[in-house]
Amino acid sequence: CGIIGIVGRYPASPRLVAALKRLEYRGYDSAGIATLSNGELDRRRSEGKIANLESALLSAPLDGTVGIGHTRWATHGPPTTRNAHPHMHDGVAVVHNGIIENYTELRKSLSEKGFAFETDTDTETVPVLLSSLMKEGVSPQDAVRQALKLLRGAYALAILFESHDDMMIGARKGSPLVIGVGEGEMFLGSDALAISPYTKQVIYLEEGDWCVLTKASYTIYNEAGDEVTRPVQEVVTEEDEAGKGNYPHFMLKEIFEQPRTVKRTLDVYTHPAHQTLGLPRAAADQINLADVSSIYMVSCGTAHYATRVSEYWFEQLAGVPSKTDIASEFRYRRPALAKNSIAVFVSQSGETADTLAALRYCKEQGIKTVAIVNVQTSTIAREADVVLPTYAGPEIGVASTKAFTAQLVVLLAFAVAIAEAQGHLDEAEVAALSNDILTVNSAIEKALSLDDVIKKEVIHFEQAADAFYLGRGVYYPLALEGALKLKEISYIHAEGFASGELKHGPIALITAKTPVVFIAPFDDLFEKSLSNLQEVAARSGPVLLLSDEKGIAHAGSAPTRSIALPNTPEIIMPIVQTVALQLLAYHAAVALGTDVDQPRNLAKSVTVE
Ligand code: G6P
Repeated sequence: CGIIGIVGRYPASPRLVAALKRLEYRGYDSAGIATLSNGELDRRRSEGKIANLESALLSAPLDGTVGIGHTRWATHGPPTTRNAHPHMHDGVAVVHNGIIENYTELRKSLSEKGFAFETDTDTETVPVLLSSLMKEGVSPQDAVRQALKLLRGAYALAILFESHDDMMIGARKGSPLVIGVGEGEMFLGSDALAISPYTKQVIYLEEGDWCVLTKASYTIYNEAGDEVTRPVQEVVTEEDEAGKGNYPHFMLKEIFEQPRTVKRTLDVYTHPAHQTLGLPRAAADQINLADVSSIYMVSCGTAHYATRVSEYWFEQLAGVPSKTDIASEFRYRRPALAKNSIAVFVSQSGETADTLAALRYCKEQGIKTVAIVNVQTSTIAREADVVLPTYAGPEIGVASTKAFTAQLVVLLAFAVAIAEAQGHLDEAEVAALSNDILTVNSAIEKALSLDDVIKKEVIHFEQAADAFYLGRGVYYPLALEGALKLKEISYIHAEGFASGELKHGPIALITAKTPVVFIAPFDDLFEKSLSNLQEVAARSGPVLLLSDEKGIAHAGSAPTRSIALPNTPEIIMPIVQTVALQLLAYHAAVALGTDVDQPRNLAKSVTVE
């Protein structure tokens, strides 16, 4: 899941471990490093946390200034030490992200030639394949060149070779890989964050690129094998965003950053003179907003729920038919796409494999593609026709929080822009709506000030094996996101439902042991939600009403527990409710003692299908 490689001037082992710690946020279940010292390769690997790898290194240190490291998120084979990377075979060490899809085939033909395999992984075929080619007398570079032609699937690779102390080879296809250009040393990283303490000068490899690094040089080849140049870029990481500050967890820090990240994002989508929302000029011109007939939105996980919320905005504010889909479904359904439609891909990382594949499908179909991404150097950002960035800053907690609210804000600005371009909202309506939306950061501040109140409500989930979230309208997808947040980090089984569907199934599950969260601010549908709440309470279901002050005042004594968020304009209420859902999940997880920032089995950036 995370890769680091160093051809350096200083002892590699502590630097590799430090880099792996910076990559921890991506989620992993085992880790390992290998170094080259006096021509010899050696490695240490361990199951579980990097602390285990550190103790392995303490009892058996590794020398050398050249090394590779990896955090693994298991795909092929359980997360054991044996299956952890680096994988080695006969003088070749490899770390790999992605999946070698034809590994069974390769393994079979290599086994037939007498090569032995030690692990269950797809990755091991790479060092075995390389050493089989080198046995025929080819150089490491030529072995890589030939091997890459034989690999199918996705990979980012960092490779070291015995007796080649001043060389590391990297390759990328389908999984991101960056070169770090240091002073008298070179680096490889699965993202720029991994190498950021060592150098800010990075090169983003393109699809199919591979490279040969020495301490003093780098040479990049494209898929056809021609030497190419790629631009060196300076990465800017805001130091305060890379650390945890005074917060016990990244997730809590990121929740509390939202007034700032939402504001920073909104600023880019606000006309400075008129203070109205819209798209930056260049993007608006490229999309031709007035002609958009319908919108497809494709994404995964939390980003998908952002699009589901925005569906209501595109339809209600702009009157434009819109359809959301999960990327893994969309890409294989090969949907028929309407003329003059646009496709919007929402992704925090910009690297999610299924979302990227869906984007490529839409490009093939010739429809305009728009990416809403947080990482602007990502593959999805590079491949889309138009990029609408979110400015959430680096999100480290695996459970997405500030990226979600930033996505909501961009989607809202997008909906307002289309509504205006298509004459669905007039100038005065856009001005009034913008005015309301621009109060969102102060509304989030107020919601955050209720942290202690929200924390007390985690008692609601005490001893719960299951929990349900219900909502109507825009609060239905928010119920799905609230349930996702809870299950991701607390491991309590949680599901979201449309309140109106309660009677069509979910009500059969209600007992005194199934807490239900109703997300129902005071709006047109409030009375209906309140009836549903009564139906749950009548069956002894413990109810928590998440509403605003007006709603709580109207509800009287019906709910056993409640949280009153500040009254706000209706349009921004989903964003304000989100904050409470995040805090609720966070405190429930802390109360249960789970690993909040790195929940089990989850990865931050899913670059495999
Ligand atoms: C993973 C993460 C989720 C995220 C999803 C989509 O599953 O754990 O938090 O929502 O991927 O990621 P993306 O980077 O495309 O937004």
